[in-house]
Amino acid sequence: MARILITSALPYINGVKHLGNLAGSMLPADVYARFNRAMGHDVLFICATDEHGTPAELAAIEAGQTTAQYCDEQHEIQKRVGQGFALSFDWFGRSSREPNRKLTQHFANVLEDNGLIDERTSKQVYSVDDKRFLPDRYVEGTCPNCGYEKARGDQCDNCGTLLDPVDLINPYSSVSGSRNVEIRDTRHLYLLQSKLQEEVRAFVDKRADSWPNLTTSIAYKWLDEGLIDRSITRDLSWGVPVTRNGAPRPGFESKVFYVWFDAPIEYIGSTVEWSEATGGNWESWWRTDKGADDVTYVEFMGKDNVAFHTVSFPVTILGSKEPWKLVDKLKAFNWLNWYGGKFSTSQKRGVFMDQALELLPGDYWRWYLIANSPESSDTAFTWEAFKACINSDLNDVLGNFVNRITKYTAAKFDGKVPDGGEPGEHEAWMANELATRLPALISYYEAMEFRKAAAETRAIWAAGNEYITKAAPWTAYKTSVDQAAVGIRTGLNLVALFGIIAQPIVPETAKKILDALGIPEDRRSLNPDKLGQGGYPALLDALPRGKSIEVPPQLFTKIEDAQVAEWSAKFGGG
Ligand code: MF3
Ligand code: ZN
Repeated sequence: MARILITSALPYINGVKHLGNLAGSMLPADVYARFNRAMGHDVLFICATDEHGTPAELAAIEAGQTTAQYCDEQHEIQKRVGQGFALSFDWFGRSSREPNRKLTQHFANVLEDNGLIDERTSKQVYSVDDKRFLPDRYVEGTCPNCGYEKARGDQCDNCGTLLDPVDLINPYSSVSGSRNVEIRDTRHLYLLQSKLQEEVRAFVDKRADSWPNLTTSIAYKWLDEGLIDRSITRDLSWGVPVTRNGAPRPGFESKVFYVWFDAPIEYIGSTVEWSEATGGNWESWWRTDKGADDVTYVEFMGKDNVAFHTVSFPVTILGSKEPWKLVDKLKAFNWLNWYGGKFSTSQKRGVFMDQALELLPGDYWRWYLIANSPESSDTAFTWEAFKACINSDLNDVLGNFVNRITKYTAAKFDGKVPDGGEPGEHEAWMANELATRLPALISYYEAMEFRKAAAETRAIWAAGNEYITKAAPWTAYKTSVDQAAVGIRTGLNLVALFGIIAQPIVPETAKKILDALGIPEDRRSLNPDKLGQGGYPALLDALPRGKSIEVPPQLFTKIEDAQVAEWSAKFGGG
């Protein structure tokens, strides 16, 4: 039994996330967590809301709430929506809670003790009318790179360039709109990343073989450009207060740590929250001197987050010179687009997680998003492809099979796993299919190749359909009930197996299937040692003969053209 720590990039607090965010971190992380639990491993799956920074303050202003109220409310909403998608976090924390504050202040303190933090004077945009500095998104203006007029201080949404607010042309305050701004001096703490260049490179070199290309290429790009010292504080009131040795740091009373400094630390903070709530031992997951040396730590994120996780967060960890766990495997995703373009909150393009759940249950979305995961390139969501995928894979291939076999069992075999008859060539064919396909499925999951895992899952379901067409128990029944019994018995065992392999991607459907068949929890393992005991033919005869089964409730309904038309009109696209 392996110990696997899994984190998903922390969703930002400013509103419910769209399907692209779900597809690019939380969902695949959940599928991987469920897969590993089904393999019998000891999994700890951690997430949280990322609550600091200027976007939270700005969203709160827009909502007419204090930032604290706004975050309280949005955290609950995101938590509920996550549950709607059956995201099986062991803990869904908040970066604004005490454990993260303490840890963030602790890391800053030891980094400074180790000579890796300097106080420096820098130039910042100051709004005379607002009487405040305008960090990051508090200032907007014209992008020096592409000329876009609404570039934000930290990044241009048009060309993607990372910016320093003082580089904006014609800057104005995004709070008041005032153009009465000037550049003033301010003091900030700088993390001396340049001093850790070699250590971080050695760390990346060590991991490079096991990281996918997308991950290593981004990490090396940053390293090759040379790590630059970065400021880790901001002139804001919402965030982790800046302290030194446990007391407020003189001159920093109106400043807080930068959101990208404290956010990844919340992976640890959230685990501490989990400990406090459950009595679990967080140190055994995070401290290599306290048992975490046998933990495999796996991170999931969109590609825009890779640099922060391969370079910046490792700087914090390595610079502390304390025995913290570093990331082992890192799975990064490209973008899920909405038709040809991006999802956009402001332009109301695309579907957000809460809206999606109003249309259809979570499993429909989970299946589509994993089967079309933006793994090796960006992919586009379209209603047409969504409909085709759901109607074919879930309705025709999985749903119909389960329905047909269980209903026939109820009608002709008194709702019991039939006895009698001997397996023949068709059953041998099916066993052979499983002998190659099940190991392939497991290896795709282990390699975190989610599209392939979904395709293989479907291929196993499809093979079952092919088998039942060949065996044709309904035809056989007319001449030999025993021969029909073999087909239905094998079919029922396939239904159970289909439920077992469905668990990572469509967990609610899987549960309905496995519950209807009365499969006990300890027989739902995906681990080949347990699953294939006695070989693949035995897998097709594993259910006790004579056992009563139920017909599960209807698993799926088909998506109609009229729904596609309605949703296209409502959410754009088409
Ligand atoms: N909130 C960030 C984003 O949406 C991700 C933060 S991941 C963390 O891009 F590790 F830094 F928390
Ligand atoms: Zn630009």
